[in-house]
Amino acid sequence: LKEVKLIIVGFGVIGRGLANTLLDKRSHLRSQGLDLKVAGVCEAQGSIVSDSGVDLKRLLSSKPRWGRAKTQDVIRDTEADIVVELTPGNIKTGEPGLSHMVWALNSGKHVVSSNKSPLVVAYDKLLGLAGKNNLSLKFEATVAGAIPVLETLKRELRANKAQNIYGILNGTTNYILSKMAEEGVDYHAALAEAQSMGYAESDPKYDIMGVDTGAKLTILSNYVLGEPVKFSELTIEGIERVTPEAVHLAGHYGYAIKLVADVRGKTVAPTLIPKDHPLNIPGNLNAVLVETDLAGDLTLIGAGAGPRETSSALLQDIIETSKQL
Ligand code: HSE
Repeated sequence: LKEVKLIIVGFGVIGRGLANTLLDKRSHLRSQGLDLKVAGVCEAQGSIVSDSGVDLKRLLSSKPRWGRAKTQDVIRDTEADIVVELTPGNIKTGEPGLSHMVWALNSGKHVVSSNKSPLVVAYDKLLGLAGKNNLSLKFEATVAGAIPVLETLKRELRANKAQNIYGILNGTTNYILSKMAEEGVDYHAALAEAQSMGYAESDPKYDIMGVDTGAKLTILSNYVLGEPVKFSELTIEGIERVTPEAVHLAGHYGYAIKLVADVRGKTVAPTLIPKDHPLNIPGNLNAVLVETDLAGDLTLIGAGAGPRETSSALLQDIIETSKQL
């Protein structure tokens, strides 16, 4: 049995989701020869560190008594293999996640993350630092939640040239637009539901204004297409101006309105999609359509948000990283 020690940074919706999944999947992982231990958990209020492994059940059920150790010290000084960075990020500065990742990579720890902002702000710097230190930085969970889109497009379609990628990459806005189409509810009510189910960003403006979709577009372009693109180069329009009347009228003529990222076009915008098109997906789903030269068009559809679903991608990255240890 290989023991791998994690430090979880960020214990909000996603952090707690991962902790629950680690408990659920403990025996499944052990049967595959992997024993994941959490050596430390850091939150804005403080940290909990344990050499023998943090008791996740207790941490999830009680109001934790956070210790005073600073995140930087826990990341740097705790004996661990992988830092799992799950804080919400500021799209302009990438912080606090950017510093967390730099501290981890500078102290010999691999990084797995669901946090888009540091990658949007400092993609080359972070990948360069990981490479220089012979460490891995994995971020499958940053784009389209549970759909293994980054590795599928990058590795499994290696023989192809991806001509373009179109995506519905935000579960919250898809949920809102779907609700508006099906039930005619306005977006404030649908947003409140999306928040209660843990789909929305901690600042839901990031969802509504298309910022979250733009961040994912940036990561897809950099990682899958190998085309460096800056967030500031994108043309982004969110769903703030999509009215229930517009959704209804589109429906009448056989279309749905969806928030679509056009990766090569560097745009995010509400777009008319024919109802029988593969990108017309319901509920909080995400979809990624890739146009390739050999395989033709492929569409991957699945859950793009939610703590349990996102932890599928996080755990996959943790397992892959563990194989290198
Ligand atoms: N707020 C995001 C969404 C979460 O709704 O898709 C996943 O990045």
